[in-house]
Amino acid sequence: MASIARTASQSLRAASRRAARTLPTVAVKPAQAASYSLLSKAAAAKAAQRAPIAGTRGVKTLDFAGTKETVYERSDWPLAKLQDYFKNDTLALIGYGSQGHGQGLNARDNGLNVIVGVRKDGESWKQAEADGWVPGETLFPIEEAIKKGTIIMNLLSDAAQSQTWPTIAPLITPGKTLYFSHGFSVVFKEDTKVIPPKDVDVILVAPKGSGRTVRTLFKEGRGINSSIAVWQDVTGKAKEKAIALGVAVGSGYLYETTFEKEVYSDLYGERGVGLFLAQYQVLRKNGHTPSEAFNETVEEATQSLYPLIGQKGMDYMFNACSTTARRGALDWAPVFEKANVPIFEQLYESVRNGTETRKSLEFNGRSTYRQDLAKELAEIDNQEIWRAGKVVRSLRPDYKPESE
Ligand SMILES: NC(=O)c1ccc[n+]([C@@H]2O[C@H](COP(=O)([O-])OP(=O)(O)OC[C@H]3O[C@@H](n4cnc5c(N)ncnc54)[C@H](OP(=O)(O)O)[C@@H]3O)[C@@H](O)[C@H]2O)c1
Repeated sequence: MASIARTASQSLRAASRRAARTLPTVAVKPAQAASYSLLSKAAAAKAAQRAPIAGTRGVKTLDFAGTKETVYERSDWPLAKLQDYFKNDTLALIGYGSQGHGQGLNARDNGLNVIVGVRKDGESWKQAEADGWVPGETLFPIEEAIKKGTIIMNLLSDAAQSQTWPTIAPLITPGKTLYFSHGFSVVFKEDTKVIPPKDVDVILVAPKGSGRTVRTLFKEGRGINSSIAVWQDVTGKAKEKAIALGVAVGSGYLYETTFEKEVYSDLYGERGVGLFLAQYQVLRKNGHTPSEAFNETVEEATQSLYPLIGQKGMDYMFNACSTTARRGALDWAPVFEKANVPIFEQLYESVRNGTETRKSLEFNGRSTYRQDLAKELAEIDNQEIWRAGKVVRSLRPDYKPESE
């Protein structure tokens, strides 16, 4: 069950990314830029009670199961300080997909000077307009936005970052900062050809969730957890800037990493999907109905077991199960672990050696990338397991048709 749980949480992350791409864009009015720091103090106080902490204010060394790591939090960046820090900056958000939407609106609501750069005939231009970005004032074609910006936040799709780099690179002039939300482009530079100019800071803020979640948590006064990293520090301020930008785009806690570690773990994590279907198929082959097969696999996992693991850990979930379930799960956990480790090793190697990057660049670099993806997702949507799931969901006690 341990390996099932791990894989399922990865499936959920991947699913939330997919969902983020398909969710309709909602026009959001700029919120009152004020309240996040109060709420984060309460959250920090709670966290402090839970974990052994060394450090002062927002910078903490936490003991993660025997390994000490430094975590930053936004209480070191009250809104007035954040606004003062970026008072001479223009954040040029290039690309307006899920992350562009979430990070851009949050930074705008935090009172920073933000503009958006996207291609004029694309879907993102329309979405940006719907979110209140004004053509000629805060919404520009990509190259124009880069020229106007001091902090260039490259939030194009990873394939587009590679394709557009020849036109973008000459515009990243000394004094500007180059920002990414994924280590993909610069770590796999042999494939992407994204080689940042030597004379600019290059930093990363990677939210641990879809841009929609980045936005939702911010609007609730909370903050998503993100990782930060520095690729190149020419000013001596690169890390500080990464932390401040992390807070600006809506992060609550910030974990320190490197570009390489971020991209390896991220690509690895989001590829570990597929167990649900295997579980479901074996039940169906043994004569179980679609509703039973779905209920005993996806439904129980997502609605009951994983939330319990998420809230209080694996041992808590085991304790909440019947003695029969507990015994079987504990016995089978090492079997699943043994069977899955070689597959995950194969996957990690495929990430590390760039195979995954090359596949992604090829697929997502096609002019038909949206249609091709939609076709594959439609095939998944049409699989029996997910069709059965729609009906099971409609029978949930808290079912709301509009949430489908
Ligand atoms: N989504 C997540 O959960 C997540 C989480 C953390 C980090 N990240 C990282 O954040 C970055 C952005 O990801 P995302 O999911 O927000 O966006 P995305 O869906 O991967 O990319 C969307 C943006 O790329 C633009 N684009 C695609 N092809 C283009 C081309 N050939 N020329 C110009 N623009 C093009 C799209 O514009 P059009 O509408 O005009 O096509 C759109 O604005 C990536 O580095 C990603 O790895 C994503």
